[in-house]
Order: sequence, then C-alpha cells, then structure tokens
Amino acid sequence: MSNLSQWQPWWLIIPAAGFGQRMGADQPKQYLTLDSRSVLEVTLSRFIGLPGLQGAVLALAPDDALAPALLANFKDFPLHYAVGGATRSASVRAALRTVQQHCLNDQTLVLVHDAARPCVRRADIEALLTGAFAAKDGALLATPVRDTLKQANTYHTVQATVPRAGVYHALTPQAFACGLLAHALDFAEQTGCALTDDSSAIELLGKAPQLVLGHADNIKITHPDDLPLARLILQAQGQWHPAQAPLVG
Ligand code: CTP
Ligand code: MG
Repeated sequence: MSNLSQWQPWWLIIPAAGFGQRMGADQPKQYLTLDSRSVLEVTLSRFIGLPGLQGAVLALAPDDALAPALLANFKDFPLHYAVGGATRSASVRAALRTVQQHCLNDQTLVLVHDAARPCVRRADIEALLTGAFAAKDGALLATPVRDTLKQANTYHTVQATVPRAGVYHALTPQAFACGLLAHALDFAEQTGCALTDDSSAIELLGKAPQLVLGHADNIKITHPDDLPLARLILQAQGQWHPAQAPLVG
C-alpha cells in the first residue's frame, strides 16, 4: 500500500480536442451524456481530490465553447484550457505548454488521460501515480491481451497467429516528467512519427516506461456500442447517478 500523502505535486492533461469520427454522433463524443453528466465531466471527476494534484489542462478544439460552461461546476478546482491541434499528440503538446507556464520544474509529473475514458478506476489512477513516481522513464496503465491474436492478410484471411505472451493493451493515464514528455513529443513531430499514445514518444527516445496493471473496464469510448457499455460499467462501479438519467438512449 502506497502512502498517498507522500506524492509530489503533479498535473493532469486531458486531450479533448477530437471530434469522435468513429462514434458518428452529431457532436464530439466527450459531450455525449452518460448519466446526468457528459463523458468529459465524469472523466474529470475521477481525478478531483487526489493528493498532490495541482491543476488540470484541457486541450479543446479551437471552436469549442461548450467545455468552460459545462465545467463551471468544477469552479473550485484550478482548471485551464489550451487550444488543441490536428492530432492527439499536438493537443497534448499544446496542453503541456500551458502546464509549463504554471509549473517551472521540468521534473514535475504530468498525467495524460483521454477525455473518452470516463470509467478509469480511482484505485488504478493511484497505482499509476505510485508506479510513475518510482519509475525512471514514466509509467502507463496497461492490461494483458486476453484473446488470441491473428495477423490478417489483404484478403482478410488469417496469415498468422501472433503470440500474445507479454502483449498488453496500452491505456491511459500515462505519466511522465513534463520536460521529458515535451522533448519526446517535439522529437516525434520532427521525425514525422504518427503516435496514438504518449508512451510511444518516450519509447522513440530509447526509454522504457513502466507498465502498471490496470483494469480492462477502463474503456475508451470509440464506437456507438461503447456508450451503453460505459453506462453499465459506471453502474457496476457504483458511479452511476440514477436520479437524473434513463439507462437507455
Ligand atoms: N484528441 C485530441 N485532439 C485531437 C484528436 C484527439 O485532443 N486532434 C483526444 C480526443 O478528444 C480523445 C483522445 O484524444 O479524448 C483519444 O482520441 P480518440 O479516442 O481517437 O478520439 P477522437 O480522435 O475524437 O475519435 P476518432 O479517432 O474516432 O475521430
Ligand atoms: Mg482519434
């Protein structure tokens, strides 16, 4: 058991500047409703009150006017906004600049967590923080792959069975020293590498982030089926606010 009160100060970045093309909704998926609250509100609420958290920076799309009004409930919490970019990495990099304006120490830990992952367990965030403070090159939540993996060929028939031993799904949050993450994202951009998570940028520098076991219910809402699934997960976790919302819809 870690001693949470011993954590150093840390910051949170939530990239929320995507539109959710795969979701196919008429608004960005982070604004779809889970219970009485939007996906983004539930996601942010998972972090509020954790020891050491200095503030959060949300990366938003340039034309996004919804978030500040929606998040007015969090008025006692130091919430900042940055204009996101065309890719997730560009959005994280923009938010990181805002963190660096408020915190001059390059060693300060920054957690990056997708807006689209409202089901992350508090205990998993705590495990990640504990792991990241002890790790040399940062840390990320991950779950072992359960299914058998198949490599497909261009005809969608099986080309090979891929060994799954030691293979993990990378989740978020992922946590790194803010100076290292800024350098890694800049390097990836200069080398033209397209990234789908932040650990990949650190790995490009030859570093090896620590895998911290998380739970598979930390899903990323991606396709339409994921929204009702997230509602069920929140209910099972006791995080559902039933008074204000129906289960269907
Ligand atoms: N994101 C971002 N800036 C972008 C693209 C994505 O901040 N230019 C954020 C999303 O808002 C999301 C997280 O990164 O919270 C994970 O990305 P993903 O699940 O791919 O979301 P979208 O890019 O919005 O969805 P899609 O790829 O289906 O369009
Ligand atoms: Mg995307």
